[in-house]
Amino acid sequence: MKYLTKLIPFLFLLISCSEKVGEGTETWNVIQEEILTPQCVNCHMQGTTIAKQSGLILSEGASYSALVGALPKNLAAKNDNLVIVSNEGGLKGLGKSFLWEKINAHDREHYLGDHPDYGQMMPPGENFLTDGQLQFIRSWIEAGAPELGIVSDEKLLLDSNRYEPPSFQPLAPPETGFQLHLGPFEVPPNYEREFFHYTDTKLSEDVFVNRIQIEMRPGSHHFILYSFEPDTKSGRLPAFGVDRELRDPDGAIHTPTLMTMLNHQFFGGTQWPRMDYKLPPGVAMRLPSQFGLDQNVHYVNRSDSIIVGEVYSNIYTVERTKVNHVAELFAMSSVDFSLPPKKVTTITRTFYMNKNVKIGQIFSHAHELMTEFVVKISGGSRDGEVVYWTDDWQHPPILEYDPLIELNSGEGLMLTATYDNSTDQTVKFGFLSTDEMMILFGWFFE
Ligand code: HEC
Repeated sequence: MKYLTKLIPFLFLLISCSEKVGEGTETWNVIQEEILTPQCVNCHMQGTTIAKQSGLILSEGASYSALVGALPKNLAAKNDNLVIVSNEGGLKGLGKSFLWEKINAHDREHYLGDHPDYGQMMPPGENFLTDGQLQFIRSWIEAGAPELGIVSDEKLLLDSNRYEPPSFQPLAPPETGFQLHLGPFEVPPNYEREFFHYTDTKLSEDVFVNRIQIEMRPGSHHFILYSFEPDTKSGRLPAFGVDRELRDPDGAIHTPTLMTMLNHQFFGGTQWPRMDYKLPPGVAMRLPSQFGLDQNVHYVNRSDSIIVGEVYSNIYTVERTKVNHVAELFAMSSVDFSLPPKKVTTITRTFYMNKNVKIGQIFSHAHELMTEFVVKISGGSRDGEVVYWTDDWQHPPILEYDPLIELNSGEGLMLTATYDNSTDQTVKFGFLSTDEMMILFGWFFE
């Protein structure tokens, strides 16, 4: 008996190894199983809005012919005579492959600078493929992207390094618009510092904003810019230029700060150290001159020494005459959930529209227990269609929709978030990074 229990895992090992040698090592199969299926298919599968928009299905069986020799749906790439994956082989094949442009993180500055119309890099949200995965795909394309045969060394996949975007650099102020600069400020050791800072924008009339660029020193959990609800009385507004801490040094919420959050209107924000948020031509958000901008910064310092935080925000404006649609922001947030300890819990909430809307962009916000966040259309002819998916709480992709998602009054979006609460405490909605959140941000117009 004793020997048997010891043998069983060994036998399994043997079986799974021999299976691999038998069939699984064709390079293309490895790409499908190790890269496309886990990292792309949740978005690029039959029936999702993303598959419709990108024209690309990467599920097993469909993916090879969807990639190799196929014309891109992206117009700029098509006009540049690219194919999604070229089978010409060599550097020429690589140079003609749109897929390589979209995933090659090490050429990101070139991609963003020279190809503004190629869409986002894949997978979206700065969660780049590893260097090993990139090299593996690269040698497959250079070998002519065959469906059969072993043309890349599987050992390459052991390299788990990943491209890291350049470190913090102060932003130059925008040509049209204005800049906000917060800090530098200190974050004490083993402490989460979250504070607000109300800044006078000195605007004499409402302006229209079509791009927000944010750059932060490392260590930030989130950064948000708030305006205020239109009917907010001046007595409810905070004073300009003062840091308002959310927590007292003992960790308790500082109530006067909480009071100033009641009339907040979300204007922009990010969980990433660097964000460049652009609206499509003709679409802009209105920034009321009646209020300043309340900057909200949250840094998490889990180290034993002080860290320094700092944030630059560039607000780009366009003339009113160039704006066809004024985008409004929404935040669909659920605060009434509870995640029992040592359990995986899935929360579903549906938010219904009370007018006909067109949605242009969405992204999720949750904290580190979140393992999956899916958004589907609820009601109407597209009921059940997946419009958003992520398994990355830290870098949730910001997805743009072209065509826009049209929802009629009474239809809505169904949010399904899964959390793996590995701690031994119940976790609920809250503001600490150890609390959880379930929010969908985005913009729409009527
Ligand atoms: C979070 C959802 C999501 C994930 C995950 C994702 N994509 Fe995409 N993909 C999109 C969206 C949305 C578009 C269309 C807009 C764009 O190109 O930015 C797109 C477009 C593309 C295109 C361009 C297609 C064309 O013909 O224009 C390629 C190629 C692509 N994705 C490959 C991948 C690969 C490879 C992966 C996995 C490594 C991946 N994507 C993961 C959402 C996703």
